[in-house]
Amino acid sequence: EDNLFKNVISHAKEYGFIFPSSEIYDGLSAVYDYGQNGAELKNNIKEYWWKFMTLLHDNIVGIDSAIFMHPTIWKASGHVDAFNDPMVDNKDSKKRYRADVLVEDAVAKLQDKIDKEVEKAAKRFENFDSAMFISTNARVVEYQKKIDEANERLKSAMNDGDMAAMKQLIEDLEVTCPVSGTRNWTEVRQFNLMFSTEMGSVAEDANKIYLRPETAQGIFVNFLNVQKTGRMKIPFGIAQIGKAFRNEIVARQFIFRMREFEQMEMQFFVKPGEEMKWYEYWKDKRMKWHKTLGLGDNNYRFHDHLNLAHYANAACDIQFNFPMGFKELEGIHSRTDFDLKSHEKFSGKKLQYFDTEANQNYIPYVVETSVGLDRMFLSVLASSYQEEKLEDGSDRVVLRIPASLAPNKVAILPLTKKDGLPEKAMEIMNELKFDLRCFYEEKDAIGKRYRRQDAIGTPYCITIDHQTLQDNTVTIRDRDTMKQERISVDVLRAKLMDACSI
Ligand code: GAP
Repeated sequence: EDNLFKNVISHAKEYGFIFPSSEIYDGLSAVYDYGQNGAELKNNIKEYWWKFMTLLHDNIVGIDSAIFMHPTIWKASGHVDAFNDPMVDNKDSKKRYRADVLVEDAVAKLQDKIDKEVEKAAKRFENFDSAMFISTNARVVEYQKKIDEANERLKSAMNDGDMAAMKQLIEDLEVTCPVSGTRNWTEVRQFNLMFSTEMGSVAEDANKIYLRPETAQGIFVNFLNVQKTGRMKIPFGIAQIGKAFRNEIVARQFIFRMREFEQMEMQFFVKPGEEMKWYEYWKDKRMKWHKTLGLGDNNYRFHDHLNLAHYANAACDIQFNFPMGFKELEGIHSRTDFDLKSHEKFSGKKLQYFDTEANQNYIPYVVETSVGLDRMFLSVLASSYQEEKLEDGSDRVVLRIPASLAPNKVAILPLTKKDGLPEKAMEIMNELKFDLRCFYEEKDAIGKRYRRQDAIGTPYCITIDHQTLQDNTVTIRDRDTMKQERISVDVLRAKLMDACSI
C-alpha cells in the first residue's frame, strides 16, 4: 500500500499533475502546485460539483466571496478561541505530533489486537460466534475496555481544552514516538491553525487579519444579501468553491492535508426544527453523488463524529478508501443557528428571515456539506492509478479516470508525419476542439504514444492513417479495454461528447 502511494505521488509529478511548491528552492512543506494535467482534472471536478449543486437544484445559488474578511468574523465564528489542535513534541526525536492523532493511533492498535484475536479464534473454533467471543474472552474484553475509556477521555479532554488530561492520556496509553519508539513527551499545547497577516501599511494603524480557514463564513455573512437579491425562499442553499488556509501541525500524506487547499462548500438554510430531516437528506444526496462517479461503491463509508465541533448538533464524514486507509473526504454538519446568531451578536445587524408562510421571523438553521477539492482529486487519482501486466508480457501504467473528469478527452494521432496525415488530423481536431479537450501528437511510434495517453488518463485515442484519406474513417482506441474500432469521422463528435460530458 505504501509503495503504491509512493508510485502514485511520483506518477503525479512525472505526468504534470502535481508538483511540490517552490521545488527549485527545495519545496514548501504541505503546499503543492497543480500542473497542466492536474489543473484540468481539478477544474473538471469543480465543474462536476458546481453543476450538480447549482444546476440540478433550483434552490441553490453560487457565490465567490473574498479570502480576506473582517477580523471580527473569526471571533464570532469561534475560530480565534476554539480552532486549535493539541500539539506535542517528542523530546528525543524532536518530532512534532498532534496529540489527538497519537491517541487515535494507539486506539487503532488496540483495535488491531482485538481483530487478530478474533481472527485466530475463528480459525480455531467451528461455529464461531464473534460477538460472543468479544464479550467473553478476557483479553479482548480488557482491550475493548481500554478503547472505550480512551475514547471517552479523549472526548472530554478535547471538549474541555484540558491539555494536562491529554498528556496524562498519552502517558497512560504508553504511546511511543512513531519514529524513535521513546515515550519522552513534552507538555501538550493548544495551537491555533489560522494564518494571520496585516492589512494596511505598518505606518498606518496596522490591522491583524486572517486567511480564511474555511469558505463557509463568506456564505454566512452574505446570507441576507443573497436571500434578498435572489428572492430566495427557505429552504435554500448557497454554494461556493474557494481557497482555505490552515497552519496544520503535521502535514503529511501528500495533498491529503495541505496548508493551502480548496473547499467546495454549501450551506443549506432551513426552518428551525427541520434540520435533522435536511441533514439526512444531504447525507444521502452527497453519498449518491460520490458513488455516481464510479470509483467503486465499497470505497465510501459514513463515519459519525463522536467529538462534535463547537458549532454542530450532528455531524458525520463521508470517508474514502485512500491509499493510507479510510479517511475523511467530506464533512456534513448540522450547524444549528450558531453562526448566524453569533454574527448577529458581533455585528449588531439583524440576520433574520421573514417566513411568509409561517408569518414569522427567525434565524434559519444550517446544514452544511463541505468537501475538500484536493482530497477529492486524490481520491480520483489514487483509485484510478493501475499498474498492469499485459498479455504480451509488457507493463503499462494507466489512469482509469472517469471520462467526464479526464484532463484530455481525446488524443489525435496521425500514424505518420507525412502523406498529408497531419493535415487531415488537424482538420479533425479543429472540428472537435471547441467541445472536447484534444491532445495532438505526431512524434514517436504509435504504441509509445498510446502508453503516454494511458498514463495521463485520456479515455480515447484517434488514429489517422492512409485509409482515413480514402473513406473518412479513423480508428478509435479505448483506454480501458485497449480495443480499437473503425468509425466514421462524421459520428466522432457525438460519440465522444456522449462518453465524456459531465
Ligand atoms: N466549513 C466546515 C469545514 O471546514 P472541515 O471538516 O474542517 O469542515 C471540510 O473541512 C473539508 O475540507 C474536509 O472534509 C476536507 O476534505 C477538507 N480539508 C480540511 N482541511 C484540509 C487540509 N488541511 N488539506 C486539504 N483538505 C482539507
